[in-house]
Formats: sequence, C-alpha cells, structure tokens
Amino acid sequence: MENLVDGFGRVARKLRLSVTDRCNFRCSFCMPREPVWLPSDELLSFEEILRVVRIFASMGVSRVRLTGGEPLVRAGVERLVKMIAAVEGVEGVSMTTNGFHLSTYAERLAEAGLKSVTVSLHSLKPEKFDEIVGVRGVFNRVMAGVAAARKSGLAVKINVVVVKGCNDDELFDFAELARETGMTVRFIEFMPFDGERSWSIERVVNASKIIEVLSERYQLYPKERESGSTARYYGFKDTQTGEIGVISSVSEPFCWDCDRVRVKADGKLVPCLFSRDEYDLKPLLRSGATDEEVIRFVRLAFMKKFRGVETLLRSNGMLEHVRPMHTIGG
Ligand code: 5AD
Ligand code: SF4
Repeated sequence: MENLVDGFGRVARKLRLSVTDRCNFRCSFCMPREPVWLPSDELLSFEEILRVVRIFASMGVSRVRLTGGEPLVRAGVERLVKMIAAVEGVEGVSMTTNGFHLSTYAERLAEAGLKSVTVSLHSLKPEKFDEIVGVRGVFNRVMAGVAAARKSGLAVKINVVVVKGCNDDELFDFAELARETGMTVRFIEFMPFDGERSWSIERVVNASKIIEVLSERYQLYPKERESGSTARYYGFKDTQTGEIGVISSVSEPFCWDCDRVRVKADGKLVPCLFSRDEYDLKPLLRSGATDEEVIRFVRLAFMKKFRGVETLLRSNGMLEHVRPMHTIGG
C-alpha cells in the first residue's frame, strides 16, 4: 500500500502512541499541579490500539514508541507490547518511561519483544531529582530501574530535559554517566509544553550551548544524523564508549524531515507536536468503520500536517503552549 505522506512530501515512519495521560510523577515541565485525567472509557482499548497500529503499519510505519503520561501505569502494557511487536510491518517497539516501575517490568517487557527504553532522568542528585519529579525518595528506584533494563538486554537511553537554573549545572555529570556506562544520554531543549505555563525562551538552554559547554572538557565528534532523527549524536574521541545527543526542538527543529505521527491515548491523531490540530479516530473505530474508511481519514488528516516550528518562529517569533506534555508523551 502507498506510504502515509503529508502535504510537504514527508513520509511517516514512526508512530508515537500515548497509552495513558496519567503519571505517578509530577514533573512541572510536563504536568499541571492539578491534572485532569481522561475518563477511562475515553482511552482506546488494547484491541483498538492494535487496530490503529495495524492500519499505520499497512501504510509503511514500521517503528512504534509507547509513551504516556507514564506508559507503565497502564495495567497490562507488556501484553500490548507483545501484540504490537507481532504486527506485520512493525520492526521495532520502544518505550519512553520515567523508570519508576522498570525494575518490576524490565524483564517482562524484554520478553514481550520490547527493544529499547528511554528513561527520563533529569538530575543525578537525589534530592534535586525528587524535587523535579515532585515525589520524594524515588531517585534510587529509578536508577535501579535503569540497571534492571540494561540487565534484561534492553537498549537504554537517558533523556534529560535541560532547564536553565534548574539542572544545567549537571551537564558534565551526565556526560560522565554516558562515558562510564556506555549509554546514550540525550539533552532535550525545554519545550513550551509545561503544566503551569511558566515556560519562557530564557529558560531554554540551546543545544549548541550544551555542546559548547561539554566541548570545554571533552573532545567530541559529531556522528552522522539519521534521517528523521530529532537528535544529533556525538561520541567522545578518547573513549569508544558512550555518546551524548542533543535534541534541539526549539532552536533547530529538523521539521523538514520529520517522520513521526502521534496518536493520543484517547485516539486523537496529532500530526505535529507543535500544532493544535487533532483528528479523532475514536468515533470511526467505535462506529464500525472499515479499515479503508479509517485509512482514508488518516491520510486526509496527515496530509494537513503542519509545516513545523520554523513557520511559527518566522511568523511571530513565538512558540505557543499547545498542550501539556503528559497528554501526548513527547
Ligand atoms: N520539554 C521538553 N521535554 C519534555 N518532556 C516532558 N516535558 C517536556 C518539556 N516541556 C520529556 C519527558 C520525556 C520526553 C517524552 O519528553 O521527560 O523524557
Ligand atoms: Fe510523568 Fe514523564 Fe511527565 Fe514527568 S515528564 S510527569 S515522569 S509523564
């Protein structure tokens, strides 16, 4: 079948699937202090999610990432992983998690066919970490989750959302973590999707600045950017182990070769993270529409995918708060 293509000729290859908007953490850059959760009957069931994945896979989308909220708070998610991994055309299933439940789930997830996890770890100082995620005493548990995931054979990446004045003093510590463990540590620019709308451009540490700072201490070399990747990766010249990445969603977003499409936990298709446009698949899924009808709807929706962040910056120099991150999962 024909690929899923947008109005600018970009082809969808990766599906980011939020399986819940709930989370047991309260990172302020993601969640309001008093979040309003989706009612459970609005969430797509596993069967509905599986149908959505099959439909996207039939149009050439081969990689699926489960996100949240926190995907591991949705009961039975390992069963969902197994179902998705078995879909024809799906080449890899991955997950972005806060790591809290990983020590319990890592092995089951690996057995179910999960290939990799990205763990959000915004500080290596236990107290600071707890303050950022809004829950006390969880740092060690998350670190144990990272260790369990590695032991289970999952590829583990670390995501660090860098916020000026909060954790931007820890760049070297994170680089050391990458070097010592051989993991990939990715620094993400703070995006305007925080819970309390306190984002401002002054609190963003640009990816280029992060590289500049790290280059004071390390000899970094850039790796070739994979097409569609939002990250640029760098290795350390003096050691073969570990790498760091920077995700410049705000300062240099690579929208022109974006290959992602998103579906929220309530079945709304979101062609672009930075646009308000959403296209609700649920009424179709729940009214007996055929696959052909759903595919037609998906194609029309994706055709309208927003050009990207550059357009916003050019038109008014502003980035808007579109939706809090926990409703879409990045
Ligand atoms: N800006 C950038 N990244 C964010 N994340 C959550 N909120 C924000 C934000 N406002 C991160 C999560 C996770 C990934 C999906 O996005 O911590 O690592
Ligand atoms: Fe939860 Fe992740 Fe949002 Fe933090 S960033 S509140 S861990 S969903």
